[in-house]
Amino acid sequence: MVVERWLPIRWIHGLVAATIGGALVATLGVVGVVTATSASAGTGATTTPPMGWNDWNAFGCNVSADLIEKTAKAMVDDGMAAAGYKYVNIDDCWMDGNQYPQGRGPGTTTDPRRATAGRVDGHLVADPRNFPGGIRPVADYVHSLGLKLGIYESAGATTCQGLAGSYGHELTDAEDFASWGVDYLKYDNCGTVAGTADNQAEYIARYKAMGDALKQASADSGHAIVYSVCEWGNYEPWSWAADQAEADLWRTTTDISDSWASTVSLFKQNVVLSSYSRPGAANDPDMLEIGNGGQTDTEYRSQFSLWSMMAAPLISGTPLAEAGGKSAASAATLAIYENSDVIAVDQDTLGAAATVYSHTGKQWTLVRPLANGDEAVLLFNESDAPTTQSVSLPAVLGPAKSAYLARDLWAHSDATVAGTLHADVEPHGVRMFRVSAGATPSDAAAHVTLSATARNTYLESGTSTVLSETLFNDGRDAINHAIVGLSAVPAGWTVTPLAPAGRSVPGQSATTATWRVSVPAGTAAGNYAIEASAAYEGRGGEPRTTMSTITIVVPPAPPTTTAYLSDVNWVSVSGSVYKDQQVSRGIPSALVIAGQTFPKGLGASSGSDVAYYLGGHCSTLSVVAGIDDSASTSRGTPTANIAIILDGVPVYQGIVTKGTAVPLTQQIAGTTVLELSVDPSTGFGSTPVDWANAQVHCS
Ligand code: GAL
Repeated sequence: MVVERWLPIRWIHGLVAATIGGALVATLGVVGVVTATSASAGTGATTTPPMGWNDWNAFGCNVSADLIEKTAKAMVDDGMAAAGYKYVNIDDCWMDGNQYPQGRGPGTTTDPRRATAGRVDGHLVADPRNFPGGIRPVADYVHSLGLKLGIYESAGATTCQGLAGSYGHELTDAEDFASWGVDYLKYDNCGTVAGTADNQAEYIARYKAMGDALKQASADSGHAIVYSVCEWGNYEPWSWAADQAEADLWRTTTDISDSWASTVSLFKQNVVLSSYSRPGAANDPDMLEIGNGGQTDTEYRSQFSLWSMMAAPLISGTPLAEAGGKSAASAATLAIYENSDVIAVDQDTLGAAATVYSHTGKQWTLVRPLANGDEAVLLFNESDAPTTQSVSLPAVLGPAKSAYLARDLWAHSDATVAGTLHADVEPHGVRMFRVSAGATPSDAAAHVTLSATARNTYLESGTSTVLSETLFNDGRDAINHAIVGLSAVPAGWTVTPLAPAGRSVPGQSATTATWRVSVPAGTAAGNYAIEASAAYEGRGGEPRTTMSTITIVVPPAPPTTTAYLSDVNWVSVSGSVYKDQQVSRGIPSALVIAGQTFPKGLGASSGSDVAYYLGGHCSTLSVVAGIDDSASTSRGTPTANIAIILDGVPVYQGIVTKGTAVPLTQQIAGTTVLELSVDPSTGFGSTPVDWANAQVHCS
């Protein structure tokens, strides 16, 4: 089957289920999409992805009536409720038994009183210290504010913190939740039940048992309860949770952590499941970390945009109220959570999650059809360098009436585009648009983008490079009196014009200026910003300006002999990486793999990336990779995915397993930047990974 590239995505969505695996996938470059089953199901309690808050990410087991009530009040006062967030969700540890020593992971508990204290006469009881009146008054208070209350249980013998689980008590628990006024249940997957199988049929049976119980309890009480399945994507819940367990949403991944690596990893695992999304049935790549401090606001805006494109639940996991020793969310954090343009995409009633329209290297374009015929378009730059990305709107939407109207959902501005849309995208950032092919308002300005690039972004002191500045006019009409220039250059650097840009730029075209930029000898290593700017006349002759910043890295001196990487200064690092030692759970120790101690090397961990500037001076990297012996085996033998990346290209990818040292020799001739990277953990917590004896041979 041949599908032309210009087919509007709306039509393509209709075709996906029928043609996946065939020509359509190849034509559109959609990666690894899995197809959905038939009709929608769920409880009917919600038709759009739930929006709300959950205590787990920020407070762990420190949950209480006070925290929940303060948070609910804050949600009303800070605009979250008005923005659409209505579920205030209690996670694990609300039950009696929390006063005994904590469990150490799925199904384990250090104290048997923990699991049994949670029930009296077969009924769950809340921790009397933290919920003195039980759950009901908390629900009443939350309801009095116009919000809804969520609660947590587990489908096994215990919760993940070793408290009483719901296995065998499903109907009693569901009836109790309904009678307390609970509106939402997150149903977890901890607590091994002796004698039961670990397979999909058993999972379906367990989750269906609670689905049936909730249905019964809802019918008895006349009170609908949203059902959130949380089995971490173990047995493909997207293929059965809605239809067989009557769930409204299901986790597709293990737990999120507040790191960029985790955000990207969960996005990639979830986006391929888009065809399972429909009204009342949502893929859940876990909660939002926005505001928790481990990522930049750019990265948090990306999480919010990616999750909204994927029609994911928007459940904030950050403190909203001043409570439990933590401060309330900042204005910057609330501005992300309360972006109504982006929320409208998430909550769109068509319920069709975004598909990957194109994916090249670390640049992604996602497209999501919306109920009114618009399309949401997301340009996502997963990489560490700024990019200019583009998408052909005729290919996405079909022909426009006059021009396309593109609303920038973070800048909240409208602009016209005649054909191709260009946008500057920050490292780890997104540009998100809502695009319409209908008639455009006659006064909307053209979409104009200034993109600045350097031939080399790593520039040793005393050298120079060519810098290009391109002004894209995506509109229909020409822009006039354009001046493309540099508005700020680091002191002492010299700039020589090479070729000027055009003064008039016709619609759907671009003009480029080039410069030679020289870094004086003796410039200290560091990141230096150059500001590019352009001025031009708008349609009515009004003056307009646009700017773009480019960062030049003056690297530390590259090694010129054989050197241990732990003796070379890195140019960038993310996650934790230590020199000549490992630090696991806060405790420093020597680097030890399979009983062998290494005095030199890097003690890294899952979700880390360290980069070195080699400037083309080195020929070979030798390293012994492995899981450090300090890694815990309480959840099985730890493994990690590791990679050696040369100038952005992974040249070695492998898995290391505790107990085995992996000696590696990698040719690195001509490499400018070497990266050693460890994927985020796919299980619980972080795993210590050693790059022992890491050495580069240079001249
Ligand atoms: C995990 C679950 C988390 C949180 C935690 C509580 O299994 O994925 O979101 O609920 O248990 O113990």
